[in-house]
Amino acid sequence: MSNAIIEAITAQLSQVIDPDLGKDLVSLNMIRELRMEGSTALFHLVLTTAACPVKKELEDQCRERALSVDGVDAVEIAVSAEVPQKKKPDDVLPKVRHVFAVASGKGGVGKSTVTVNLACALAASGARVGLLDADIYGPSIPMMMGISREPYVANKQMIPLENHGVRMISMGFLVDPKAAMIWRGPMLMGAIRQFITDVAWGDLDYLLVDLPPGTGDVQMTLAQTVPLQGAVVVSTPQNIALLDAQRGVTMFNKLDIPILGIVENMSAFICPECGTSSPIFGVGGAQRYAEDEGLPFLGGIPLEPAVRECGDEGTPVVLAHPHSHSGRAFTSLAEQVASRISIEALTGEEIASA
Ligand SMILES: Nc1ncnc2c1ncn2[C@@H]1O[C@H](COP(=O)(O)OP(=O)(O)OP(=O)(O)O)[C@@H](O)[C@H]1O
Ligand SMILES: [Mg+2]
Repeated sequence: MSNAIIEAITAQLSQVIDPDLGKDLVSLNMIRELRMEGSTALFHLVLTTAACPVKKELEDQCRERALSVDGVDAVEIAVSAEVPQKKKPDDVLPKVRHVFAVASGKGGVGKSTVTVNLACALAASGARVGLLDADIYGPSIPMMMGISREPYVANKQMIPLENHGVRMISMGFLVDPKAAMIWRGPMLMGAIRQFITDVAWGDLDYLLVDLPPGTGDVQMTLAQTVPLQGAVVVSTPQNIALLDAQRGVTMFNKLDIPILGIVENMSAFICPECGTSSPIFGVGGAQRYAEDEGLPFLGGIPLEPAVRECGDEGTPVVLAHPHSHSGRAFTSLAEQVASRISIEALTGEEIASA
């Protein structure tokens, strides 16, 4: 009897489709340990990211489907996440599931701000997150993350500093920016490699890398040395900034690093007094650009004074004011990025789960 019920529930759950992955939850191996206890159906719903944008919808649909089966009076679902393993695990960072860069063709567009808010939003969703500040020219991440200590070494490994649930190392702690300025290819590559391998990151779902702005030799070297599986490109809406974003996209294309998508920062100014929105730099430019190029548009972040204030104070806005316009925009951005990464990582038929 129970077997027949389990088959019927499985058949029902096979009708629930993950909208991002375009497949049903059963063939994606997202339903585990389905069993009956009396007339209660129990199972695990294993999502591909803790920051799943459709977590609630999927859970509701599963519950409804399972309850539609004769003999099922109650449903208990344990929701968890298992970030799928990248296609080609590398030797450099075997315990890190996904390494991706946040980049821009141009300085000052809010790349570091986007990086820290993304990292904190992913960590707040329950993911294990690291942050490598590789911007040797202007390391601003420690301040934005509220970290002022220097990392220490134990067992010949550098121990990352941790705040807001994110493990962080800044290259600015270790290299003198004036020296880094004159480094060339091999020296820089050696330093970066050591920097990556000698850090006790531990197990991570996501390691975010803040690259220096621009598309010159140094950026190319960094992007090649860190085992990147994708890049998020940040731009502001004006045409002039989009030209720089295009240079960034071209660089990653040359290096065969997939573009996870485009983020439009400073989309519109939200007045803290009256809440009206003014498109200072225009609006929608990055979205149009993404559509023209066939790249995913990941979302827009408004220009809001709280974003800067929180950055200066060391608690990113997504944590300090999660319900503000920008706080919500960053949470949604993190969900989009996490979902793009899961899509990139999933090969053909099944989840290559580790
Ligand atoms: N959406 C926003 N709303 C308000 N202020 C913002 C926003 N995004 C960034 N800022 C502010 O703009 C300034 C530049 O941002 P940030 O340092 O993140 O840019 P960046 O691209 O990393 O710059 P750099 O090229 O110097 O590394 C910071 O003071 C930051 O707080
Ligand atoms: Mg920066």
